[in-house]
Amino acid sequence: MCGIVGFVGSGGAIAAVVEGLKALEYRGYDSAGIAFASGEGLDIIKTKGRVADLEEKIPASTDSDVAIGHTRWATHGVPAERNAHPHADAAGKIALVHNGIIDNYAKLRKDLEDEGAHFASETDSEAVVLLIAREYRGDLVAAVEKVLPMLDGTFALGVVAADNPGLIVAARRGSPLAVGLGENANLIASDAVPILPHTRKVVFMEDDQVAVITADEVRFRADGKDVNPVVTEIKWSAEAAQKQGYDHFMLKEIFEQPRVLENLVRGRIALPDDISLPPELNMDGMEIPEQYFAGVSRIIMIAQGTAYHACMVGRNMIERVARIPAYPEYAADFRYRDPILDPTVLVIAVTQSGETADTLAAVRLARERGCKVISIVNVVGSSIARESDGVFYLHCGPEIGVASTKAFTSMIAGLYILAIRMGMVRETLSVNDARRRCENLVTVGHRVEGILSTANYVRGIAMNYKDASNFLFLGRGTGWPLAMEGALKLKEVSYIHAEGYDAAEMKHGPIALIDENMPALVIALKGRRYEKVLGNIQEVKARQGKVIAVASHDDNEIHKFVDDVIYVRADSGIMNSICCAVPLQLLAYYIACARGCDVDKPKNLAKSVTVE
Ligand code: AGP
Repeated sequence: MCGIVGFVGSGGAIAAVVEGLKALEYRGYDSAGIAFASGEGLDIIKTKGRVADLEEKIPASTDSDVAIGHTRWATHGVPAERNAHPHADAAGKIALVHNGIIDNYAKLRKDLEDEGAHFASETDSEAVVLLIAREYRGDLVAAVEKVLPMLDGTFALGVVAADNPGLIVAARRGSPLAVGLGENANLIASDAVPILPHTRKVVFMEDDQVAVITADEVRFRADGKDVNPVVTEIKWSAEAAQKQGYDHFMLKEIFEQPRVLENLVRGRIALPDDISLPPELNMDGMEIPEQYFAGVSRIIMIAQGTAYHACMVGRNMIERVARIPAYPEYAADFRYRDPILDPTVLVIAVTQSGETADTLAAVRLARERGCKVISIVNVVGSSIARESDGVFYLHCGPEIGVASTKAFTSMIAGLYILAIRMGMVRETLSVNDARRRCENLVTVGHRVEGILSTANYVRGIAMNYKDASNFLFLGRGTGWPLAMEGALKLKEVSYIHAEGYDAAEMKHGPIALIDENMPALVIALKGRRYEKVLGNIQEVKARQGKVIAVASHDDNEIHKFVDDVIYVRADSGIMNSICCAVPLQLLAYYIACARGCDVDKPKNLAKSVTVE
């Protein structure tokens, strides 16, 4: 997820774009750049780092009537000045900023290079500007409209041309783009925030629309014809707009999960024939030939916190699908334990930030001992990504809320794709079974959407438990890591003491805690251990404990045994773990809000633990 801003008026374009980019840094902040009309054509200034670093590179008193800018969240190509936007054609006559992922980028790049084009970056976005330059004959709108059908994937684009200095052409498909209708200036931006200081009249562009923007007018087009836009009068504050109307980033990120999961899966699973891993797996030129997986004797997954819970789910997936012994380990323990390793051991580092100190140290130890390391990570170009043999990027966009939500479900999906690929290479998984699992995975975003539609119902349940002092989370099988994760979510945002346990442990200690003041949340989906879990529920009820059950949508019995039920559309598939995570995230969020906690920045916590 990146941020783009454009301004066209009579002066003030550079200041407007720079300020707009600062407001969009929550969308991405590893590099930034600006292109603006100058007397000689287009000037482009880019930098690795924050928008403030870009601002320092812009000569004082520089001004222009038109400018486009970008703050980047790397997807293709590591954070570096060469990969920062805007990208331009070789002659520097056309410049473009892009937010989104061009799925057919590799083919576009090859075709362009076969025609003699030279790429200055590793980004997918550069292919788009080179295509526009190839089609440009002086009419920028025509050139853009000719290129859009060539693109697969998602984009929000802002394009300028040196010989058309008072014009921005914008287009969108799948990535948000807003157009601000000002008095004597008009703007584009990834969301309304950069627009609000100039105007509250905004058009949120629709897919496959094109906007033709000058200082005096904005025209909208679709299918080559002018169309009338829907103009919205924005009532939000700028801060609310960053959260796109949600009260907190955590809630926004919980609700982003359907799209994030669809994005993660798209382009990685080409149904129905094959399942292809993302090219990042062979980052840094280090090939991990698929046959490598055939010789892996065991897998150790290293992580902390929520990422560790994702590894616990991943263990079940890998052992069931790829039949490789798999062991989740806290990186902090692994790094000091002098673990027994050899080159047949594959180490998988799972981390949202890619900067967790213990996980990074564990990665270095594993590589020193001759193990190959694959990292499943969200932040492109992060330390752990750079120090791994192969990388599987989650591409779930910046996760601002300290409590990890969309990254957790993305990690599970990423581990599942890896398990399926390994199973196919080791032939422990038939192609048909792999296809069935992939079809199940492709639908998981939709299933999460369905669960999110019950958010208000979950909120009602949360109100019954907001004054609890302690909470027990119980589950069996993949319900156990979910119980651990639910307890972590609740404790870190609401400050209620919560513990997650394998429900089978109840008689080995936790049952001593049960009374009317110790509520329990139990993951109780139908499956091989359902009856055992029901037994645990009855143990809690027999001791006056209150029980919330997370249950299968078609379970018509469980409500008789518990106090509250949250239903999820479950099947026999292993993706239930993703579906069960959502009610746990919502429950923690609503209880924390009811308790007046600082949900996005809980006390004592940092988003990334970069020190021991
Ligand atoms: C989870 O909600 C917490 N923010 C924390 O446990 C986090 O998962 C842990 O610090 C690991 O972070 P990483 O994924 O960036 O390595």
